[in-house]
Amino acid sequence: MTAGSTQPGSGAARAAPGQAGPPDADSLAEIELAAARRPVDTFGQGCVIVCNHLVRIYLVEGVEVQALQGLDLEVAPGELTALIGASGSGKSTLLNILSGMDRPTAGQVTVAGHDLLTMKGKDRLQYRRETVGFIWQQTSRNLLPYLTAAENVAVPMSFTGVSRRARAARAASLLEMLGVASCRDRLPAEMSGGEQQCAAIAVALANNPKVVLADEPTGELDTATAAHVFSALRTASAEAGVTVLVVTHDAEVAEHVARTLAIRDGRTSTEVLRRATAGGLVDAGAGEEYAVLDRAGRLQLPGEFTEALALRDRVRLALEPDHIGVWPDTVPPARDAERPGRHRQAGPGRSGRREGE
Ligand SMILES: Nc1ncnc2c1ncn2[C@@H]1O[C@H](COP(=O)(O)OP(=O)(O)OP(=O)(O)O)[C@@H](O)[C@H]1O
Ligand SMILES: [Mg+2]
Repeated sequence: MTAGSTQPGSGAARAAPGQAGPPDADSLAEIELAAARRPVDTFGQGCVIVCNHLVRIYLVEGVEVQALQGLDLEVAPGELTALIGASGSGKSTLLNILSGMDRPTAGQVTVAGHDLLTMKGKDRLQYRRETVGFIWQQTSRNLLPYLTAAENVAVPMSFTGVSRRARAARAASLLEMLGVASCRDRLPAEMSGGEQQCAAIAVALANNPKVVLADEPTGELDTATAAHVFSALRTASAEAGVTVLVVTHDAEVAEHVARTLAIRDGRTSTEVLRRATAGGLVDAGAGEEYAVLDRAGRLQLPGEFTEALALRDRVRLALEPDHIGVWPDTVPPARDAERPGRHRQAGPGRSGRREGE
């Protein structure tokens, strides 16, 4: 048996052979359980968006589609975060839940202190009017075609008892902030796609929401216009102090956002963090990619890593002083043999299968 292989039926994480196992040598299942039992108070603390093991299952003709599979997410106030991921990975599902338009099947989700799982009709309506603003990909869906840009921005305020004069003043100042003051008295049909999306951001900001959600707001625009609309979102985040979560397919645009989250198979899988310059702009390419470790200690290895080493089904793990080694099931960790007893190992998986079986 090679170093780190396990007895049938035993747990996966064990001491190296020749060494008495540390008293806390748990199985992976036990580690997962312990992680789930960790005090929950630190998770999501101070965050405006908190998703804890969020699940959304659609039932289509008796078949379950798991759109979100235990997604964890924390977004701090005022953050501008881009959300990327393959088609069908769950981005719109997440945004629909956060906007109060859809409900999760399980898990916890709070936005600005509102529990979206238990929120009822009237509160939900108020939440959608006042706490979140939403921008759709289709420019035509964001603005009423028979109203001018300023009138469109005034509409959400009319539901919250703002006076006509105050509505007009706020609409003008929001359009100005977003660089489309010249469109104030124009109908959407008299505006470019980029101008319409900037006006749509003004509509989303009208009631001073805590959070703005945008689902592919630049999907119908060329790259230069998309960059302009993104800079309007950045302005919204910086000047209005609003938290912005934006889905985008545009990798170039996402490179200019301080935090880019990737969703894979209904979970957050990787995260790229970039340092903002003094002007709030982000240096593209200077980002560092992180894998997201969920609350139960799970992470998704990037596809190119697993393919490069042909990692499948099970991997061997070894705990080093400052990192964790991951090896294919078939290859025993070399350093483990050289330095027996240095590592705690996990492998070849919970089945406890012996090498060669
Ligand atoms: N209303 C629905 N009924 C049934 N299944 C749905 C529904 N909405 C989404 N799904 C399914 O859930 C999964 C996630 O869909 P979602 O729309 O969230 O993906 P997405 O990441 O937004 O994709 P895209 O980039 O194409 O917009 C997909 O498998 C999709 O088919
Ligand atoms: Mg979508």
